[in-house]
Amino acid sequence: MLLSDKIPAHVGVIMDGNGRWAELRGLPRIEGHRRGAERSREIITAAMEVGIKALTLYAFSLENWQRPKNEVTTLMRLLEIYLRNELNEFIEKGIVFKTIGEIWRLPENIQGLIAEAEARTAGNTGLTLIAALSYGGRNEIIRAVKKLISTGVSPDRITEDLFDSFLDTAGISSPDLIIRTSGERRISNFLLWQGAYSEFYFTDTLWPDFTKEEFFLALHDYQMRERRFGAVPMRAKS
Ligand code: IPE
Ligand code: IPE
Ligand code: MG
Repeated sequence: MLLSDKIPAHVGVIMDGNGRWAELRGLPRIEGHRRGAERSREIITAAMEVGIKALTLYAFSLENWQRPKNEVTTLMRLLEIYLRNELNEFIEKGIVFKTIGEIWRLPENIQGLIAEAEARTAGNTGLTLIAALSYGGRNEIIRAVKKLISTGVSPDRITEDLFDSFLDTAGISSPDLIIRTSGERRISNFLLWQGAYSEFYFTDTLWPDFTKEEFFLALHDYQMRERRFGAVPMRAKS
């Protein structure tokens, strides 16, 4: 059972393990990506069901550009199909679609689809769905630094809040919970600044097998934790 007053406002997901899922079945890696995309639909719906406000899905990292050309090309093709198919769904469900990352590196047709989805969902009030595409946390920080410097701001005026407003995630709260599937226990350049106090949930389940039920298990696990932010535990007596 989930506690309705302890639902994380923002959940980030490192959707990992598509390739291994396919390889285990003797299928081409892209089949794992296709099944992974289907799984993300289920998780978006589940997030809306429990009242999560923002969901960031790490779909393609800056480092992923180094993969074999045919995997990158087919991934881009899948992304295109996904965006084409989902737009009406986003509109119907009141989803606000956003992206973070170096979008200008993506094929032009995909950039167009992203711009359209962002524009047509901007007035919605439901779940904010953030797709991390061509995204790297260090790169995002460097881009923010460059933008900040170009404003000519004096160093003594630079605060964490000001810096935050120059990141791709400006206006979005930090992730309360970050989930990573597939047994890898690392951050792989995801939301480095924003994840400073995120709770982490790691599971061996490969992304195409990550069901809504397991998502709820992760939320349950999160609800059992005590977030201290450097303070003393609530029960401690001074
Ligand atoms: C995650 O699955 C999706 C992307 C990074 C695009 P992987 O493709 O990394 O799958 P594994 O880690 O090789 O199994
Ligand atoms: C992280 O997964 C990126 C995404 C899930 C999009 P990777 O599979 O690229 O990360 P590493 O290489 O295992 O760290
Ligand atoms: Mg991987």
